Amino acid sequence: MSLTQLRPAEALSSFANTPRVTVQTLQDKKRHGSPIAALTAYDYPTARLADEAGIDLILVGDSLAMVVLGHENTLAVTLDEMLHHTRAVARATRRAFLVADMPFGSYHSGIDEAVTNAVRFLKEAGAQAVKIEGGATRADLVRRLTDAEMPVVGHIGLTPQSLHSMSGYKVQGKTLAAIDRLRADAHALEDAGAIAIVLEGIPREVAADLTEHCAVPTIGIGAGPDCDGQILVFHDLFNLTFAPTAKFVRPYADAAGMFSSALEQYRRDVSTRSFPSDSESYHLPREVQSAFVRDHRLVRKA
Ligand code: KIV
Repeated sequence: MSLTQLRPAEALSSFANTPRVTVQTLQDKKRHGSPIAALTAYDYPTARLADEAGIDLILVGDSLAMVVLGHENTLAVTLDEMLHHTRAVARATRRAFLVADMPFGSYHSGIDEAVTNAVRFLKEAGAQAVKIEGGATRADLVRRLTDAEMPVVGHIGLTPQSLHSMSGYKVQGKTLAAIDRLRADAHALEDAGAIAIVLEGIPREVAADLTEHCAVPTIGIGAGPDCDGQILVFHDLFNLTFAPTAKFVRPYADAAGMFSSALEQYRRDVSTRSFPSDSESYHLPREVQSAFVRDHRLVRKA
């Protein structure tokens, strides 16, 4: 048991009374040149901290597969696992716009099945939008989802679900032909109704050009500072990936170091019996205590 307080009567965050971020808010932010701060989250406590810190958009990314579930890439995470984590994040999110990643295989076997799967994220898990990877080839799907009242975030450039067809994780859009393809992808997504587009792993100049020419907000990761917003994976931000950080990551805190030293201290305290202390223990009421000692002695004597 742990005494997690699910919601304080008085929210402490300075963002507590600001209105919920919507598709319109994201669009307005682009129009006003006000950057969108986005972050991934996969569980209640981290989503709640992100929400209370004023993060505008929380993505339950399929990076869950790697950073939380320990898989080698994102392909293994299932629809049910994504739904499970999206529900936890939704319980914690009051202000941020909540997007759920559709996992590999959940939108590849046909548009009808993809629509059915996307509905589950909004209906059962509390997401406000879904994200799918791919450009022009996804335009028909984006249109169908949009027509079915489900906001869609696109994702182009380095798309981790295409790991094998890309022959590894590589920066995309480095030739003029590749840049033309990215432009066509962004415009196809936009025309199909995407509400925002994640630009991952592309040169700064290309991201700046796409951002300038897209009517919908671009959210960059490894795409330089000129996008309409930025997103990072929660575990990268806190040094919780057990790997050297990528060039585009700025680790803001060393949670791994903090956890490791606290765990070492806890193990030491248990092994030396300095945890728990008397003040960390429950005690019998005074009136029961004397009877307990007396009866206990009697029992032991008998
Ligand atoms: O799954 C994920 O975390 C993502 C972000 C990197 C954009 O798709």
